Amino acid sequence: MVSKSLRLSTTNESQKSTVRLIANAKLNLGLRVLSKRPDGFHELRTLFQTISLADWIDLSYRPSRVREITLEANLDIPHNLIVRAAHALLDEAGIGGRIHAKLTKRIPMGGGLGGGSANAAAMLLGLPALMKRRIPLAVLSRIGAGLGSDVPFFLHGGRAIGLGRGTELYPLPDGPSEAVLLVTPGFPIATPEAYQTISANLGAESASTAAFEAQVWQGEGRGFYGDKRGSLVNDFEPSAFEQFPQLAAIQKRLWATGASPAGMTGSGSTMYGIYGSKQDAESAAAKLQQWKTLVVHTVIRRRFRAMWFKQLGKFSDGVMWPPAV
Ligand code: C5P
Repeated sequence: MVSKSLRLSTTNESQKSTVRLIANAKLNLGLRVLSKRPDGFHELRTLFQTISLADWIDLSYRPSRVREITLEANLDIPHNLIVRAAHALLDEAGIGGRIHAKLTKRIPMGGGLGGGSANAAAMLLGLPALMKRRIPLAVLSRIGAGLGSDVPFFLHGGRAIGLGRGTELYPLPDGPSEAVLLVTPGFPIATPEAYQTISANLGAESASTAAFEAQVWQGEGRGFYGDKRGSLVNDFEPSAFEQFPQLAAIQKRLWATGASPAGMTGSGSTMYGIYGSKQDAESAAAKLQQWKTLVVHTVIRRRFRAMWFKQLGKFSDGVMWPPAV
C-alpha cells in the first residue's frame, strides 16, 4: 500500500493506480547533422537540455487480462506516442491491463521541443511503476529508441550529449539552472521535411565536429557558451531562416536583449535565448511582444530525478534509476 503523501493513490477494491506525470520539454543547445546513415536516419551531434515547460499526463492503470488503452487529450494528436508507449510496455511485460491517460498538452507541437517524445518517455518511466514491474533502463532505452530518436534522452533528463541518431547519450555535469526565453513564431516545422531539406546539401565528407567538441569541453567550467553570441551551431537554422525570415529576426532580437546563446531548438520552429537571470528574460519578453513568448528555466538532472522520485513514490534505495515502486 502506497502512502497518499507520495501522490500515488491506490484503491484496493479496483486495484486502480493513478498518478500525474510531468513530462518536461527539451532544447537542443546546438545540433550538427553530419551525414545520412544507411538506416535512413542522420548522424547527429547534439546537446540536449531539459526545461521546465511540461505536459501533464494523468495516468491510471488497472490490472486486467484484457488490454484496453484509452487517451483523452486537450487536442487531437494522430499516432500519439503515449498509446504506442503503453502498447510497447504491455508487450514487454507480457501482461494485460486497462490504461487511461489524460494528456494536458502545453508544449507546442512542431516546435522542436520534443513534446511527443517527452510524453512517450514519461509513460516509459511511469507505467512500469504503476504496473509494479521493474523494467531495466537498457530495455526502456531500446523501447524508447523504437518510438523516436529523442525519447531515450527524456529517460535521463538534465544536460546530455546525443550522438548517432540522437539515442546514444552521455551525461554532462549539472550546472546552475538558467533562465530561458522561448519564442514560438506560431507555425510548426515538420521534422522529416526539415531533414530532407538539409540532407540534399550534405557532402560526402562529415562536417567538422571541432566546434561541438570545444563546446562540450567548455562545459567543464562555467563559460559554457563561449563568446557573446555563443558558439552553438544548429545545422537546421540556415534553411529554416531562409524559408521563414522571421526566425532570423527573432534570433537578432534575442541577441539584442542580452541572450547568450540564442538559437533554434531541433528542427524548429521554437527559438530560445538563455539569459543571466529570470528578470533579464522577463524584460526581454516584454520587448518581443509581437511573438508568443514564455519564460522558463533549465531543469538540471538532479531536479529532474527528484521530481520523478516524488511523482512515483517509494523506491528501494534512492540511487536506483529509473524509479520503481
Ligand atoms: O526518430 P523520430 O521519429 O523522432 O524522427 C522523425 C524523422 O526525423 C525521421 O523519420 C527522420 O526522417 C528524421 N530523423 C533523421 N535522423 C535522426 C532523427 C530523425 O533523419 N537522427
